[in-house]
Amino acid sequence: MKYDLCIIGGFGHVGLPLSILFASKGIKVCAYDISKDTEKVLSEGKMPFIEFGAEKYFPQVLKDGNLHLSTSPDCISESRNVLITIGTPTDLHMSPEPVVEQLIEDYMKYFRDGQLIILRSTVYPGTTERLSRIFEKKSVKADVAFCPERIAQGYAIKELLELPHIISSTSEEGISRAKELFRVLNDDIIVLKPIEAELAKLFTNAWRYISFSTANQFFVIANDAGADFYKIYDAMAYKYPRIMGLPTPGFASGPCLFKDTVHLNAFSQHNFHVGNAAILINEGMPTYVVDRLKLKHDLRNKRVGILGMAFKANIDDKRDSLSYKLFKLLEFEAKEVYCSDPYIKGEGFVSPEELLRKSDIIIVGTPHREYANLKIDSSKDLVDVWNLYGKGCVL
Ligand SMILES: NC(=O)c1ccc[n+]([C@@H]2O[C@H](COP(=O)([O-])OP(=O)(O)OC[C@H]3O[C@@H](n4cnc5c(N)ncnc54)[C@H](O)[C@@H]3O)[C@@H](O)[C@H]2O)c1
Repeated sequence: MKYDLCIIGGFGHVGLPLSILFASKGIKVCAYDISKDTEKVLSEGKMPFIEFGAEKYFPQVLKDGNLHLSTSPDCISESRNVLITIGTPTDLHMSPEPVVEQLIEDYMKYFRDGQLIILRSTVYPGTTERLSRIFEKKSVKADVAFCPERIAQGYAIKELLELPHIISSTSEEGISRAKELFRVLNDDIIVLKPIEAELAKLFTNAWRYISFSTANQFFVIANDAGADFYKIYDAMAYKYPRIMGLPTPGFASGPCLFKDTVHLNAFSQHNFHVGNAAILINEGMPTYVVDRLKLKHDLRNKRVGILGMAFKANIDDKRDSLSYKLFKLLEFEAKEVYCSDPYIKGEGFVSPEELLRKSDIIIVGTPHREYANLKIDSSKDLVDVWNLYGKGCVL
């Protein structure tokens, strides 16, 4: 085989850091993806998105020839192991799209006997066993594994080397081959059955999403009572370690937490009550903010600025960001809405200085570090649910 590893979806947020790190460990990697635009950026030695620490490895692995970039699926047939990292969205009915199954069907002619096929995308529970059956039916003698990705976006280069890797497979051979592969990143490995590993991934993200929703609901309860949640939080957390698991409020969103909570809800026959409540609370935060502003202001006469459009601080990913939901609501209600983000180019985006000058109301959409030292005129109404400025938040 020409390559040790083919990564399908290899130009994405999960696939690219994995491709780079495996290649940096001397593994011959082919990153395969359908995005020709991203291939162009990568082949110029540039990263298509923020991935902290990638610059340390990326130019070198391209130069060494350990990382090959491809937009042709032929490389799948030329690889000993194949790792799948494509996106796994849900549909409008909150059901998982069977994209991984579709991909396997589409690329069936490229798979070979003796390959290890590793799912790294977050999948609907039971998918690993199902894929194993699909390969059997098509008489491809491949081992199928599910080894979930657990990095925080933007921090994969660091975390892939530090976090233990969960390994599962439908065969003993698959377990030992997946171990052999992931050991080069970190030899702290946990072996589970596929259903356990699939649920472990969904539970992890749903738990984080629920904990953010708890903080958000506490914020709303405190705010409705005219109290500053942050003052209460500081008192609760002061020298009291049992409260440390409670995050602080904010616009909890992004491409994974919400989607994985929806996956788990679909798997539990829509009986995942805590998850459902978390969705309503987190997704309701922009509406809550706008409703509270409407009690204080006639928004039809107000210019509102949103500082930060990415889904979380210090990165350039706008996927499923609640700042955009906020923008849509305000576009309907306010006289003018301005957006700014140091990492995202958007039509009509303005500099933070222009936004501060022109807006009557300023909302921190994303607490990017660049905003920490902005001087905000005290005559303006500042909405800082994240408490970036440390002054608390009462709406
Ligand atoms: N982003 C994260 O931090 C993160 C963390 C843990 C798990 N995950 C999970 O990992 C998976 C991937 O997420 P992501 O954020 O990397 O998505 P992404 O959209 O950034 O990357 C997916 C890549 O797959 C490519 N692709 C799509 N269809 C393809 C096909 N048929 N053949 C080849 N390439 C194809 C796309 O062009 C894209 O580059 C999802 O299941 C997600 O839930 C993501």
